[in-house]
Order: sequence, then structure tokens, then C-alpha cells
Amino acid sequence: MEEKKKVYIETYGCQMNISDSEIIESILYNHDYEPTADMKMADLIFMNTCSIRDNAEQRVRKRLNELHALKRRKPSLVIGILGCMAERLKEKLLEEEKHIDLIAGPDAYRSLPQLLEQVGSGQKAINTLLSADETYADINPVRLSGNGITAFISIMRGCENFCAYCVVPYTRGKERSRNPKSIVDEAKGLFQQGFREVTLLGQNVNSYRWEENEIITKFPMLLEEVTRVDPKLRVRFATSHPKDLSDDLLKVIAAHDNICKSIHLPVQSGSSRMLKLMNRNYTREWYTERVESIRKHLPDCAISTDIITGFSGETEEDHKDTLSLMRWAEYDYAFMFKYSERPNTIAAKKYKDDVPETDKSRRLDDIIAMQQELSLISNKKDVGKVFEVLVEGVSKRSSEKLYGRNSQNKVVVFLRAHHNPGDYVKVRIESCTAATLRGAEVQDT
Ligand code: SAH
Ligand code: SF4
Ligand code: F3S
Repeated sequence: MEEKKKVYIETYGCQMNISDSEIIESILYNHDYEPTADMKMADLIFMNTCSIRDNAEQRVRKRLNELHALKRRKPSLVIGILGCMAERLKEKLLEEEKHIDLIAGPDAYRSLPQLLEQVGSGQKAINTLLSADETYADINPVRLSGNGITAFISIMRGCENFCAYCVVPYTRGKERSRNPKSIVDEAKGLFQQGFREVTLLGQNVNSYRWEENEIITKFPMLLEEVTRVDPKLRVRFATSHPKDLSDDLLKVIAAHDNICKSIHLPVQSGSSRMLKLMNRNYTREWYTERVESIRKHLPDCAISTDIITGFSGETEEDHKDTLSLMRWAEYDYAFMFKYSERPNTIAAKKYKDDVPETDKSRRLDDIIAMQQELSLISNKKDVGKVFEVLVEGVSKRSSEKLYGRNSQNKVVVFLRAHHNPGDYVKVRIESCTAATLRGAEVQDT
């Protein structure tokens, strides 16, 4: 048998892109390419890119310069740009970066073998067509680079919310859901391979919807079906848009021990005025009511968020509203970003990016400091509690320790004893930092 060519994929951006890279590996594997973890061995290098903020694109550009040097030493090397940056910039990327051979957008991965053939015959190749129905449902992703315990399952693609600041609706296209049977089958297959946790992915999983023979499957039902794969399979999901988070969903989460008690509920801003400009379709009051409902249905549920600071027109008053909301919600953790204007978005067309860089930076520092304090408060509350931890691996710092996460998605480190990745272990928390819980196994008596 002829030896397969080697592909190295570097993934940027969100979990969705990680999941897409696994789909890409699977498509290529069926066409004579196998993944390698060593870039120097690669015949083909793909960068699966992100456009969400300008610095995400700058990072890719810098890396491209390094790859350019590699290609000078090895002219047969093929370099391709995939993902959101490919979709956003299309041909322009080929003009700007002369050493790129191939461009493919997020809905064009099935055509990669043909595009590669085109490159093989000396041409540049590009496909950035978006699709209304592509979900890659029939493609069984290759999961080589992960830990073998936790995996992502993409349940829908695209986004049509058009938040004013956001590039995703343009780079990912129309929202579409994937056949629920294919999702449940994928979860079953993963469990049989030894995986113990799946995260169901979509830009707004609460709007998942599949209709077949007059039966409509919505997200709470899909979630229940996945939990039934096995009680030992943990289920997570991301992301929930606050405007669509229903009590029905909270009830389903409460009813199943293997649905993790952790909800990522991006707020973006604590000011209703900003939320309106951002086109988020909810107010501060709506959001706080949703958080109250989570607390009522799921008293031990962790809540995390995303925050953008310095969006167009944001005043010190608006900024204070964000800080006060954070304190009120007591987030367990948060991803925090400086607003980065993206070309052709609603905000770029309608508003001025008018918050000075120094203010953006200071406000970001404020919210990071606030979250640091909140994360520590949240972790300190866990000291003394016992959690079931799913072990994901051996601690990088000490081979005698294992790390894993509890249902609330917090990282827990403890002494290894006789356990291995994939085991569920009861751990009593003894100490913490803002980032990690440390504890010891509870011996069953
Ligand atoms: N679909 C998810 C978020 C996907 S993008 C949701 O709606 O919650 C992840 C995060 O990146 C967003 O929640 C937002 O906080 C941030 N983000 C998106 N566009 C941005 C921009 N132009 N500048 C800064 N941060 C941005
Ligand atoms: Fe972007 Fe809004 Fe869609 Fe999230 S919901 S991906 S922030 S447009
Ligand atoms: Fe980035 Fe695209 Fe994800 S812009 S955040 S890789 S959907």
C-alpha cells in the first residue's frame, strides 16, 4: 500500500473550529492523507482560522510568515487557509499572501480532495461557497489530538442573530440543525470508544430545531436523548443565547445527573442601552431574570459568561453597569474581550468605534480584576465540598497527580492513587486558587 501523505492542521478560534478540524481530518483520511502532530513532517499544512477579533487574524498572518520560510526550504509543501478568515477574505487572501495554495470556507470541506487535486496540477484552488444545509452529519470526525475522554459534537452550524459587532453570521452562514439521530449515534460511538463526556456545540444551541415526519425535535429533547446513551456519559453544551434560554431546558438539566450543571450564558454588557446597540435582543432585566431562573431550578449550577468592553458609544456609566451585573451574577468564570471592529458588520456600518484604546484597556483591566475576585470567591465556597470528578489526564506539573473537572466545569487536581483518565472519582476540595480546586479522594466506607 502506498504511504499516505501527511497533513498538519493548526486550529484557531472557537470549539466549533476544533470540531471542524476533526471533520477535515476525517475527509482527508479517506483521501490518502493522515494527520501528523509534527509540522516539519507535513506535506500539507492547513490553518483553520478565526476572524472574531482583529488580533485573531493578526496571529494567523504572523504564523503565515513563518510558514513562508518553511515553504522556501520545501517548495512541495502545500499551504491552505480554512475557516472563518478564508470565508471573510476569500480571493483577497490569495492576492495578499502569495505562498498560499488553497482557500476553503467552513461549508466547503467536502470539496477539499478536489481542491487539493487542483493544487497538484499547479493551480491555486478556492471554494468559499456557503451552504444552507451542510452539517457534515454523515462524517465521522477523527479525534486524534484530544485526550480520548472528552469530545465535541457539532449539532448545528451558522448563526442568524446578527449581533451588531459579530462577524460569525457572515463567515458561517445560515443557521441549520443537524439530524438528531446522527448526533445520538455519534455520542454512542464515542462512548464505546471510551469517551466519557461530550459537549454539544452550536452558536446558539437553544434554537436547535429538527423536523421530520411532523415530529419536531428541539434542544431540550435532543439533550435528553443524548443523556440516555449512558448514565456514565456526561453531557455539556455551548453556547446558550440568553434570549432563548427556556425553563423547559432548565428542567431537563435538573432531571438528569449526567447533564453537567454548568451554563455558559454570554451577557456581553450589563447595560440595556449597550445591549440594544449590540442587537442582543434582551435587556439587563431579562438577563437577570434568566439567571434567577437558573438559580431556582439548578441551585448548584455554575454560570459563566462572555463580556465585550468598549463597544461603540460605551460610557463609564455603561461600564459600571457591566461591573455591577458581574458582581450580582457572581460568575464562576468569564471570557473578556476588548471590542474589535470587524469590517462589514452592522456596527462597522452604523456606529463609530469611538471608545479610545486607553479606555478600552482600562475597562478590560477592571472587568478582569472583578472576575478574578469572583472566581476566587466561587472557588473558596467549594472548599470542603465533595465533587465527582471525571479524570481527563495526568497533571503537567506532577505525574503523581491527576486533573479532571467537576460537573460545574471547574478543574480539580488530586493525588493519583490507582486511578486513570476516564475514571469518575469522588474528591473533597481542600484548597483553591482563582483557577483551580485541589483536593483528595474520598474513600468509600
Ligand atoms: N455565539 C456565541 C458567541 C460566539 S463568539 C454567543 O452569542 O454567545 C465568542 C465571543 O466573542 C462572543 O460572545 C463575544 O463576547 C466575543 N466577540 C464577538 N465579536 C467580537 C468583537 N467584534 N470584538 C470583541 N469580542 C467579540
Ligand atoms: Fe455572533 Fe451573536 Fe451569533 Fe453569537 S449569537 S455568533 S455573538 S451573531
Ligand atoms: Fe472564530 Fe469563526 Fe469560531 S470567527 S470564534 S472560528 S465561528
